Amino acid sequence: MADTTKAGEPTDATPNVSDVRVAEVKSEEQAVAALDEHVDRGEPILQVRNLVKHFPLTQGILIKRQIGAVKAVDGISFDLYQGETLGIVGESGCGKSTVAKLLMNLERATAGEIFYKGQDITKLSGRALKAVRRNIQMIFQDPYTSLNPRMTVGDIIGEPFDIHPEVAPKGDRRRRVKELLDVVGLNPEYINRYPHQFSGGQRQRIGIARGLALNPEVIICDEPVSALDVSVQAQVINLMERLQDEFNLSYIFIAHDLSIVRHISDRVGVMYLGRMAEIGTDEQIYDHPTHPYTQALLSAVPVPDPDAREHRDRIILTGDVPSPANPPSGCRFRTRCWKAQDKCAEETPLLAIPERFKSSDSPAAHESACHFAEEKDVVHAA
Ligand SMILES: Nc1ncnc2c1ncn2[C@@H]1O[C@H](COP(=O)(O)OP(=O)(O)OP(=O)(O)O)[C@@H](O)[C@H]1O
Ligand code: SF4
Ligand SMILES: [Mg+2]
Repeated sequence: MADTTKAGEPTDATPNVSDVRVAEVKSEEQAVAALDEHVDRGEPILQVRNLVKHFPLTQGILIKRQIGAVKAVDGISFDLYQGETLGIVGESGCGKSTVAKLLMNLERATAGEIFYKGQDITKLSGRALKAVRRNIQMIFQDPYTSLNPRMTVGDIIGEPFDIHPEVAPKGDRRRRVKELLDVVGLNPEYINRYPHQFSGGQRQRIGIARGLALNPEVIICDEPVSALDVSVQAQVINLMERLQDEFNLSYIFIAHDLSIVRHISDRVGVMYLGRMAEIGTDEQIYDHPTHPYTQALLSAVPVPDPDAREHRDRIILTGDVPSPANPPSGCRFRTRCWKAQDKCAEETPLLAIPERFKSSDSPAAHESACHFAEEKDVVHAA
């Protein structure tokens, strides 16, 4: 909700309710206008700063008492630039989907900021929030459950127009939906069919068409191809790449499969237990990782070449991932890290370019949250 009073302002005249509403509407209009005006090429389209999401853990049936919190996302910062794909990888439960939901405003952040074109969307409400939501859309993991089986494809793809009729007025919707079907490589004549009449890959194309309906600038893709056969995955990835070029889309691409993430991403962020362990270009992360967790993840990627497989340095991590309700002090990875020292328990490593690489132009000079960041040769799938 937009603030209508400022600390320190005289409060002798209590504003009446309609005054407050007018002020709210005004500041929302200003916010919407600011979104349209902010065209600053080269600036990130999204800037995430110290983003936190804690889910409260409660006890008791009648009287609920908070006894702790699941620290699903615990202080994450990154940028997304216009037209780029930022891949996000990490083990199950590390907080990837929670980041996606926070960016979509499906979850409210506990703390931190998400700037979209310079404006903090975590503080928006009403029309200003609706305007932002239109520009940030999502493609979901499971094309089987994310499409309503009782709705026709035309109704599914056209559903976003009910909330944003300004994008496609009623008389124009059918034409627009047919156009979207064509854009994602489906026959526009299928407009009256139901989801069960399509294959998994075709259903994901329907999900993509729905994501494109409002002409968004950013698409958050949470495991968009994980539920598909390998042969179909490539087709959907190719489609996403084509659409990105055609519409200058920016993607956040969340996935488990490191090879797919490398294929599609310009930059990659590696998450561990609610924090970002390392972030850099695909070459920096895959060929010159400096964080032990990234090195361990890459060393586990299946290698098709038997020779390379024999010579690679496989890192086997011991121990389970700690609970996000009670993460280790200092570096969160220290309970599984083969390089851990006392300092790792005492001081939280910041995500920054390690001092020793700062003045070099080596690909190792990228952000890594490790006190003892260094390169290690890890043979992995290209
Ligand atoms: N609504 C919720 N209430 C409580 N805890 C939650 C909620 N949503 C997520 N969590 C917890 O937050 C942590 C991060 O979950 P999240 O779904 O973001 O992980 P993920 O990285 O997407 O995992 P996966 O790869 O399995 O999809 C997990 O420990 C999860 O149990
Ligand atoms: S800070 Fe310490 S525990 Fe953490 S990754 Fe680096 S060496 Fe390992
Ligand atoms: Mg997830």
